[in-house]
Amino acid sequence: LSTRIQNEQQRLRELEEALRNSERLAVAGQFSAAIMHEINNPLEAISHLAYLAKEEADNATKVREYIDLLEAELANVIRIAKQTLGFYGPADALRPVNLAEVAESAILVHGRRISTKRLNIVKRLVEQATVKIHPGEMLQVLSNLIANAMDALPDQGTLSIRLRKTKDKVHLLVVDDGHGIPPPLMGKVFDPFFTTKKDQGTGLGLALSKAIVERHQGKLCARSSVGKGRSGTAFRITLPLHEAA
Ligand SMILES: Nc1ncnc2c1ncn2[C@@H]1O[C@H](COP(=O)(O)OP(=O)(O)OP(=O)(O)O)[C@@H](O)[C@H]1O
Ligand SMILES: [Mg+2]
Repeated sequence: LSTRIQNEQQRLRELEEALRNSERLAVAGQFSAAIMHEINNPLEAISHLAYLAKEEADNATKVREYIDLLEAELANVIRIAKQTLGFYGPADALRPVNLAEVAESAILVHGRRISTKRLNIVKRLVEQATVKIHPGEMLQVLSNLIANAMDALPDQGTLSIRLRKTKDKVHLLVVDDGHGIPPPLMGKVFDPFFTTKKDQGTGLGLALSKAIVERHQGKLCARSSVGKGRSGTAFRITLPLHEAA
């Protein structure tokens, strides 16, 4: 009997070990999915900006502007790669940035899809709203929110980007009048891997965006309606206002 118990115990240990290994693999798989998600956006932006630069080859000022943005997106890819390899932590590169400029860049990098869908862009941005952020990460968040809005919008739909300031906070809203999120799904949209886009989406965009905003002492929240004739979704980023020295 004691040999049988010993055998059983051995088998249990082996099972535990196998389970631990598969958990490790699952975490590694999730991690690489997250990295691919974050790298895909800047790569698309880079290809879009290269296309724009070629289109406007005769206009040196425009070309320089596109190349500057392209470099910023490339820096983003490099940052993600370095971060992945553990070269430096995300907290390092926080610096005072005007969020209005980040919003403008995010709109610009989605230019191609905005014009293909003939979307109506409404911008209401205060001129200056300084926040202490990692600009690349915040560009990524905005880019994720705009990509989601575009997925939900019909052709010729409206996408509004609003930037407001209060005494000590900055609010950035990304609002669409698309199909909206049904109430039973509202509690799930920030869950990693929750997607309604089948194999078109990873379901990581909002989970990663929320994590990034919270790392900046901010909040990311959503409101949505699926009511006929008044459907739409608003995501709001709230960040502490950085007092200019
Ligand atoms: N603006 C929006 N309007 C309607 N539904 C939305 C909106 N934003 C998010 N959602 C819902 O939340 C889900 C999760 O969004 P999330 O960005 O995390 O992943 P995804 O967009 O599905 O995948 P990926 O980000 O990889 O493209 C979406 O699949 C969609 O159902
Ligand atoms: Mg998304």
